[in-house]
Amino acid sequence: MAFARIMGTGSYLPDRVLTNEELSQSLDTTDDWIRSRSGILERRIAADDEFTCDLAEHAARRALENAGRSSADIDLIVVATTTPDQVFPSTACLLQARLQAKDCPAFDIQAVCAGFVYALDVVSKYIESGAAKCALVVGAETFSRILDWSDRSTCVLFGDGAGAMVVEASETPGIRSTHLHADGTYAHLLQVPVGVSTAHSALAQGKAYTEMHGSEVFRWAVKGLSEVVKEALEHNNMDQSDIDWLIPHQANVRIITATAKRAGLSMERVVVTLDRHGNTSAASIPLAFDEAVRDGRIQRDQNILLEGFGGGFTWGSVLLTF
Ligand code: UT7
Repeated sequence: MAFARIMGTGSYLPDRVLTNEELSQSLDTTDDWIRSRSGILERRIAADDEFTCDLAEHAARRALENAGRSSADIDLIVVATTTPDQVFPSTACLLQARLQAKDCPAFDIQAVCAGFVYALDVVSKYIESGAAKCALVVGAETFSRILDWSDRSTCVLFGDGAGAMVVEASETPGIRSTHLHADGTYAHLLQVPVGVSTAHSALAQGKAYTEMHGSEVFRWAVKGLSEVVKEALEHNNMDQSDIDWLIPHQANVRIITATAKRAGLSMERVVVTLDRHGNTSAASIPLAFDEAVRDGRIQRDQNILLEGFGGGFTWGSVLLTF
């Protein structure tokens, strides 16, 4: 059986930087509140004529270049996104056309902030089974489009961006384990309560934005993420000293710190981009991964633990050797 190995990474952030200071001019909030409660200093916002597939395309091209591969090599495209350009076709199909990738399966995955972990789970299974040899996996979001910009409890937390990986069949590891979880009974704690099927309902008016019970989500996120770290280490017969880098979903620095502490990992071994990116949902893990590859922190043969938590609830981990 082949291993699924990351051959290259890429990412993209829109040019527009939105600072806490700027937000505090139009909202009843302060830089100090946002910084101290979340760890976020600024986030990127896509231009009006820039869409999720545009962000995905930039990140994908950079990942392909980094891997030394071309569109012709790709035989599977998976895009994790909560903010697709269109109802259909999927963003993965739109991306396939942009890249002029040859006939290959292309589909989106929707698991909100755990989307990239879900996508890597699927991609690794395609590769391990022999159904694909070279997959392009992307996490891309224009989350700013599903925020109520007058709701200070949510809009200050999120941002836009994309990250991508080229994952290939290899004789050496590779993704060592993936563990996914979901519990739909918590849907009401973090949601956009309106979708395609419900949009015409009278109840739906004005509700096409993210709603979150922040402190409850916080509590469940720390619990879920701590459990998946333990689960991944036990499954691989490893302990925290075997992990070179933890790359958590970037939602709140206090969640990241609490999870690292419970796992016995020092913050020096945790990649944090939240301060500059905000929460970019499915894009946050590949964005952080690519940043740490490009600045030289992540090196070949290191063990990396990815963990995600999002609406659903959905959560999970990926443990890999780079
Ligand atoms: O990515 C998916 C997963 N998402 C998450 O994991 C997010 C999890 N939750 C969180 O990150 C945190 O709960 C928040 C950052 C959202 C909030 O932090 P908190 O320490 O849990 O604050 P809180 O919700 O308990 O609110 C405390 C106070 C409230 O005022 P009162 O009721 O105590 O008077 C809020 O109205 O802070 C107020 N508040 C704000 N004040 C200034 C809420 N948002 C703001 C704001 N500026 N932007």
